[in-house]
Amino acid sequence: MASLSESERGKGVVLSKVEGRGEGVRLKKENTRIMNQLSDTEFKQLRNYIEKNCGIALGDEKAYLVENRLAGLLAQTNSASFDELLRKAVGQPELGLRDKIVDAMTTNETSWFRDQYPYEILDTTIFKQFSRELAAGRCKKVRIWCAACSTGQEPYSVALTLREFARKNPGSPLQNAELIATDISPSVLFLAIAGRFDQIAMSRGMPPEIRDRYFTSSGKVWVLNDAVRKMVTFKKLNLQDDFLSLGKFDLVFCRNVMIYFSDTFKRDLFKRIAALTQPGGVLFLGASESAVPYTDQFTMISENRHLYYKLRKEARQ
Ligand SMILES: C[S@@+](CC[C@H](N)C(=O)[O-])C[C@H]1O[C@@H](n2cnc3c(N)ncnc32)[C@H](O)[C@@H]1O
Repeated sequence: MASLSESERGKGVVLSKVEGRGEGVRLKKENTRIMNQLSDTEFKQLRNYIEKNCGIALGDEKAYLVENRLAGLLAQTNSASFDELLRKAVGQPELGLRDKIVDAMTTNETSWFRDQYPYEILDTTIFKQFSRELAAGRCKKVRIWCAACSTGQEPYSVALTLREFARKNPGSPLQNAELIATDISPSVLFLAIAGRFDQIAMSRGMPPEIRDRYFTSSGKVWVLNDAVRKMVTFKKLNLQDDFLSLGKFDLVFCRNVMIYFSDTFKRDLFKRIAALTQPGGVLFLGASESAVPYTDQFTMISENRHLYYKLRKEARQ
């Protein structure tokens, strides 16, 4: 069996924690997993189902991941095999298994101020540009979209960067920026909306002075203050679906999600992101992702050797 990456293993741990309350349940699950190995045919069928329903494209070497991530659902749904699980998902939509399978297959790895540079560029360059546009009346309100927000660290990091910018620039017209954060996974959105983070989550990129300014500690969790929490509106959204109704955005974060998609889906997604980005609007991708092979609608900008993208003016829709 191929080894699990940290984020992939993490998902299994969550599953066994949920189901492992009590020795009986854990033993039952382990037995179930031994008895229900994923066959090649089941893997191919589930892989197609997963790509069709959320765009996540799994290579041949990812059978272990499907087996590991969906093992808990076999037990939960009393299914004797992965084939039976899939048949229930397709044939009995009232069970809501489609969402559960997609939820289990998403990798929700995230952290505060991930990679730092996007937030530094917001502070030093982009928010200043937006302030000038607002002051000159060329823009009424700045709108920001985090397109795959996971448990909320990304949109809240943007919100905190906005807060800090306003603190350093009193009277900044950016105060009323609108922040929309979306994800396909209901379970991560539930955690994001709560705005409560444990020590492990807080230890991943949160500077202590920001923590102390905007969070209060409550037992073992840190609670984000209401003013920052309310800056972000969370919505469930599958990036495969039409999202033009979200309106136009000046800034889009679509980070560390394209890596899971096929080239065809990436091309389509860039086109649709371009369609809802304002002319000259800004797009941040993950540090290992690039728009260049998939679209010519964005210009690549390099700042301190870090990359981001701006919608070409002539690409306006
Ligand atoms: C690795 S996390 C990245 C989180 C955050 N953007 C970051 O960079 O820290 C990827 C997120 O994409 C979401 N995702 C995967 N497929 C999606 C889809 N088709 N539509 C919307 N979100 C999706 C997952 O649920 C997951 O939370």
